[in-house]
Amino acid sequence: MTATRQEAESAADLVPGSSFSARIYEPFLWLGEKSGFRRWRRKLISQVSGSVLELGAGTGLNLAHYPAGLERLVLVEPDVHKARLLAQKTPPEGVSPEIVRAPGEMLPFEDDTFDTVVETLVLCTVADPEKTAAEIRRVLKPGGRFLFMEHVRSDKPRLGRLQDRLENPWKKIADGCHCNRRTVPMLRGSGFEVEVTAEQDKFPMPPVARPIVSGIARPAPVAAGAS
Ligand SMILES: C[S@@+](CC[C@H](N)C(=O)[O-])C[C@H]1O[C@@H](n2cnc3c(N)ncnc32)[C@H](O)[C@@H]1O
Repeated sequence: MTATRQEAESAADLVPGSSFSARIYEPFLWLGEKSGFRRWRRKLISQVSGSVLELGAGTGLNLAHYPAGLERLVLVEPDVHKARLLAQKTPPEGVSPEIVRAPGEMLPFEDDTFDTVVETLVLCTVADPEKTAAEIRRVLKPGGRFLFMEHVRSDKPRLGRLQDRLENPWKKIADGCHCNRRTVPMLRGSGFEVEVTAEQDKFPMPPVARPIVSGIARPAPVAAGAS
């Protein structure tokens, strides 16, 4: 059964976050934004259409890139401190976002609600990526699209092993972020057909948070006879 807004907000209260980490988030990303993230965000967000849900909207770094005239824009953010900063951002003209506090694992929306779900740098942090992927699938309308930008575990053996070793210390300094998630295979295993549209190893981010991948995922058709 779909969670109520109240149940989702109570679950959101359990997601780690602090006023300090919310305040330092944008300064921490400043160089990465200037050197590429902003361009990647613009490109990704310009592809949304119809009724849109952004998962883990954070302090609102994607907000400026939304096109006017969307049917609906819901920004989901569990952390109360980041949600407050998000609410203070001025959206572009013609964009009227609704902010909802909820974790990705428990989205308080009916099945088949959104044409687009989009997220940037969130599947690295959610407590349960598979459950979140299942929720994204559930709330997407048939034919809907999931757009993502993520840092993922490197295929380079040395860097990949380093990311595995640094997972726990990195998690402590980076607000619960896992630097070694295999997000694209996880999405494929969760019933999405995934097209990686861009991959970049050169962002001025710490090597543990590279490469960055961006792509489009669509719910894979369910085989006839499958329940
Ligand atoms: C690295 S920040 C990214 C913020 C924003 N999407 C961006 O690109 O700047 C990770 C975000 O995921 C949110 N988050 C953490 N756990 C979550 C969960 N279980 N469900 C949804 N969002 C979550 C955090 O509160 C934070 O806003």
